[in-house]
Amino acid sequence: MSRFSHEVIEKNSILLLLLSLIAVSIGGIVEIIPTFLIKTTIEDVKGVRPYSPLELAGRNIYMREGCYLCHSQMIRSLRSEVERYGHYSLAAESMYDHPFQWGSKRNGPDLARIGGKYSDEWHRLHMTNPRQVVPESVMPGYPSLAKTPLDYTHIADDMKALRVTGVPYTDEDIADAKADLEAQVNPDGDTTGIAQRYPKAVIRNFDGDPKTITELDALVAYLQMLGTLVDFNAYDSAKFAQ
Ligand code: HEC
Repeated sequence: MSRFSHEVIEKNSILLLLLSLIAVSIGGIVEIIPTFLIKTTIEDVKGVRPYSPLELAGRNIYMREGCYLCHSQMIRSLRSEVERYGHYSLAAESMYDHPFQWGSKRNGPDLARIGGKYSDEWHRLHMTNPRQVVPESVMPGYPSLAKTPLDYTHIADDMKALRVTGVPYTDEDIADAKADLEAQVNPDGDTTGIAQRYPKAVIRNFDGDPKTITELDALVAYLQMLGTLVDFNAYDSAKFAQ
């Protein structure tokens, strides 16, 4: 009997099409409905904030140089990854990333929690010529970064563009973008504004040359904050799962 009915379906293309459509629709509904029923796919965590102007400039250089072609920023919830890189990445950690930098290839290690792992001096040497600190490294050097003054004439526009995508920069953040960028590399100046607007921002001269703000300053500022914002002591993954 069942062989017979299957024969009927296979020999009638319209019936086969109709039944296939019904089967695919059921599959689709089962996958889609849950996403409407949960409140958010982004965990409610404390600490994640938009990038400071200097960090944002560094992130732009990271994208310009194609660092994402060799580095991921996405720690998977696998034991081997968590033991090597730290807590697995949360969606909240890249909610202000447009475009995100998860990457798809790891010629070099994951960088999602690179912040604070090395000194600025280490990054300076490594970015100029990686073999100065990691003799067997195959990463290319980027010696021009330390020599090129950072062009941040458009940093406020970058922030405005991000605001269109939903990053909550305020009018004040945008108006003070240039001043905040300069304040972040000058720990002896007035840092109250930047410290208040961008909690946990690392305020120091990153490239060892206080006279000029270079591309290296921006890139190291970005690397030194990656993965440092979320307070994992206050984060309860079980609560989010409920
Ligand atoms: C051709 C592939 C490649 C590219 C492109 C590349 N890297 Fe790397 N990177 C590596 C490899 C391989 C390592 C591991 C060896 C080492 O530490 O140098 C590494 C290591 C690193 C580390 C140290 C990670 C750790 O946990 O020890 C940092 C930081 C880093 N890269 C930053 C960058 C940045 C920023 C860029 C873009 C300006 C970049 N890389 C571009 C291959 C690459």
